[in-house]
Amino acid sequence: MTQTLPNGRVLRLMQGDITRVAVDAMCNAANSALAGGGGVDGAIHRAGGPSIMRELDQIRARIGHCPTGSAVATGAGNLPAKWVFHAVGPVYQDGRHGEAGLLMSCYATCLALAEERGAETLSFPSISTGVYGYPVDEAAPVALRAVKEHLAREDTRVREAVFVLFDQWTLEAYSRAFS
Ligand code: APR
Repeated sequence: MTQTLPNGRVLRLMQGDITRVAVDAMCNAANSALAGGGGVDGAIHRAGGPSIMRELDQIRARIGHCPTGSAVATGAGNLPAKWVFHAVGPVYQDGRHGEAGLLMSCYATCLALAEERGAETLSFPSISTGVYGYPVDEAAPVALRAVKEHLAREDTRVREAVFVLFDQWTLEAYSRAFS
């Protein structure tokens, strides 16, 4: 599914493995220890190779941890990208603990990192809807709104953002929110 905004920027949904989709910057669903994990984080480190963790070690030595709702940037090792933005989504409790704001902030931080670096194409997984338990039907509209609002800006350098969704169920939830 593709939507072209009035300013020509493109928002796209597809099903697949994010590590195989070539972009300037690939976003990861990380944890605040930046320590790697399973899910999309595991896939990114496996496909990207050890240089990504080495950079995260340096970042950790400098800042300690990455707060929930924020993100840090590294190179992308062997991935088909220039950068990986490691975003820390909220662990879902009941939806009344600021989860939506924190989730929006993850996407907004990744978009800000993209602007700083001049990344024109960007991919996102469905942050927080795996291990972190955010119901995908609640997360999808938040994620899409955050990215679409940014893409609609006249001054954005981001040309295209694609959500690469791993399974059919997640794709369907995002497709419903998309339309
Ligand atoms: N490409 C795209 N999406 C993927 C991939 C992949 N290769 N692998 C998994 N996913 C999907 C999951 O199916 C889910 O829809 O990414 C979404 C997010 O799930 P998680 O990876 O579990 O991320 P999250 O819920 O944010 O939990 C983060 O999991 O692995 C740890 O280190 C990570 O502790 C952190 C936590």
